[in-house]
Amino acid sequence: MRPTYAVTELLGDGIGPELQRSVHTLAESLPIGIEFHPIDLTLENRRARGKPIYDELVASIESTRVALKYPTVTADESPNAVLRRRLDLSVIHRPVYTIPGVPTNFRRELDLDIVRIATGGTYDDPGRIIGDGGAVSLRIVERKPVREAARYAFTLARKTQKNVTSASKYTIQKATDGLFQQVVEEVAAQFPEVPHHAELFDALLAKVIMAPEKFQIILVLNEYGDFLSDMACGLAGSLGIGASANLSFDSNAVVRFALFDAAHGTAPDIAGKNLANPTAIFLALSLLLYQIGETGIGQAVKIATLDLLRKGVRTPDLGGKESTDSFTAAVAAEVAERLADAASPLY
Ligand code: NAI
Repeated sequence: MRPTYAVTELLGDGIGPELQRSVHTLAESLPIGIEFHPIDLTLENRRARGKPIYDELVASIESTRVALKYPTVTADESPNAVLRRRLDLSVIHRPVYTIPGVPTNFRRELDLDIVRIATGGTYDDPGRIIGDGGAVSLRIVERKPVREAARYAFTLARKTQKNVTSASKYTIQKATDGLFQQVVEEVAAQFPEVPHHAELFDALLAKVIMAPEKFQIILVLNEYGDFLSDMACGLAGSLGIGASANLSFDSNAVVRFALFDAAHGTAPDIAGKNLANPTAIFLALSLLLYQIGETGIGQAVKIATLDLLRKGVRTPDLGGKESTDSFTAAVAAEVAERLADAASPLY
């Protein structure tokens, strides 16, 4: 019997329903069962139901442990901010890579897994004005989320046989970034087989541009991760087609909940027109499959999607002629073919 996994599905606005249809079509082509538990996070339902909808959502994720989120309109509240708080999502894993066929100004290949602590740094304190013409804000680094992010990064490295680079400004920000480095070193000592080295963050930015092949998993504090993710997306030319894992952890720094989403928004200008590009939500689904342990299938979803883009099978936002439905059907067929082919280089 094929294994079945329960996944909380957070319904969204705009192109959300079209992306949901695509995900279901793709899921049906997989050799596993995915039992979706939908929670309606559309603006209309959030306004009608208020806080209980988030209580329902938390209860669902407590049972399924993993969730896939479609984009939602930020109006009265930011659902992403509420989810971050309610689920204690303290780490963001953002893969960023060049996609063959997607135009970019950068001529090299890039394939990074950015693991970013999603709290603290300089972002939790908006600061205040002091005296006449001065201002101050606090920079916060806490041992717990650093340990969680480091455990996640090193576990990922062990699973995928990649190296880890941690980056900060520990020579200048001696207390805050020094604490980050110290905790990272403590965790690194538990993973002696994983190659690890520390970089100063400013030097790292230059090195990623000059020698991207040297970097695989990069572990950073909140604001550094924010800057690095956008720079890497710009280099990869794919700001709109990325996906992320948002993670919370138990007291042993093991992943407790994982929420996967696309980087883009609800695209109201093309909603309902069968023009939405499902690439990012497919890549989010691929990350989810890795998280539940179905790495071969997760890899097939990623590779099939990227391979079709490379061959020019693309939606109009990437200069192609495919509709949401036809692109989805092509990916579903490609994934099924790859998984059926025992001689595939995937295995
Ligand atoms: P957007 O990402 O929705 O759209 C920007 C441009 O990219 C538009 O031209 C749109 O058509 C295009 N685009 C985005 N995703 C696409 C896709 N999958 N396929 C083809 N084209 C795509 O950003 P915008 O317009 O700033 O925001 C619209 C709404 O989305 C806002 O209410 C915003 O709050 C919300 N939003 C939600 C996010 C989330 O739920 N994670 C993230 C970002 C924005």
